[in-house]
Amino acid sequence: MDGGGVVVYGCERVEVPPITIAIANQKGGVGKTTTSVNLAASLAAAERSVLLIDCDPQGNATSGVGVDRRSVERSVYDVLLGQCGLDEATLPTRVPGLSIVPATQDLVAAELELVDAPDRATRLRDAIAASQRGAEIVILDCPPSLGLLTVNALSAADRVLVPLQCEFYALEGLTHLMATIDRIKAAYNAELAFEGIVLTMYDGRNSLTHEVAEQVREHFRVFTTVVPRNVRLSEAPSHGVPALLYDAQSRGAQAYLGLARELLEGLPLAPREAPRPAASKPARGPKAEAKV
Ligand SMILES: Nc1ncnc2c1ncn2[C@@H]1O[C@H](COP(=O)(O)OP(=O)(O)O)[C@@H](O)[C@H]1O
Ligand SMILES: [Mg+2]
Repeated sequence: MDGGGVVVYGCERVEVPPITIAIANQKGGVGKTTTSVNLAASLAAAERSVLLIDCDPQGNATSGVGVDRRSVERSVYDVLLGQCGLDEATLPTRVPGLSIVPATQDLVAAELELVDAPDRATRLRDAIAASQRGAEIVILDCPPSLGLLTVNALSAADRVLVPLQCEFYALEGLTHLMATIDRIKAAYNAELAFEGIVLTMYDGRNSLTHEVAEQVREHFRVFTTVVPRNVRLSEAPSHGVPALLYDAQSRGAQAYLGLARELLEGLPLAPREAPRPAASKPARGPKAEAKV
């Protein structure tokens, strides 16, 4: 019963909510799903219990961790519609420590079906709060829009991480995204923090890449780790595994391991090597300093 987010000290049982990170950018094809899947796998490889929630009707994160969308019985659609809890829709993956709440095409309809629900923007947040599985980190893969699904993700998130491809119009889209984040903070989630930008499909030989990267670094917090363009990252999804399980030595897999390390440095989680309380041993190490 003791999951990653449940700590037992003597007879005191402490539920620690997960740290929820939305991977968002309203532009398609910038590496949101690739980042969600590979960052989630890398965090799990660092022995954190991770839940990936696919918030995109395209379901690419779902198939990317090897779940056949045709076989899905419960998905994030059912969760948002109140037809089941998050835990009932959670499936294991081939990556130890990583579970997924899958998405299927019917998620497109959720936006319309929820239009009259007063709590439509915060349903995902409520579902995560009610989860008993005790994930330490929840990763939300957002769709390429700023509609209700992304609003739900940003309302549920503690932090937002933005994958960005270094191309000509990158900064323009970023301004729009920042305005949306500010609106979400004002309306639903005052605590939402901007975690930073991850430069994806980075091509160090391209001068435009350098120019855009420089401009972005001038204005925003940007992760030191950049993700290079790497064919292994685009091949791995067709094998239903993150790059770490497909080719762990590839530059893509190694970049996401580096990104996970950099992210973990800033997360208020207890170190893995922390000694466990003698009276009762939780499945994972105690997280006395975890976020409240
Ligand atoms: N670093 C990378 N190197 C090579 N291909 C990548 C990389 N990141 C993403 N891709 C590929 O680019 C396409 C779009 O990436 P994806 O993560 O699906 O973007 P999004 O979720 O933002 O739409 C996919 O085909 C993916 O495999
Ligand atoms: Mg995607």
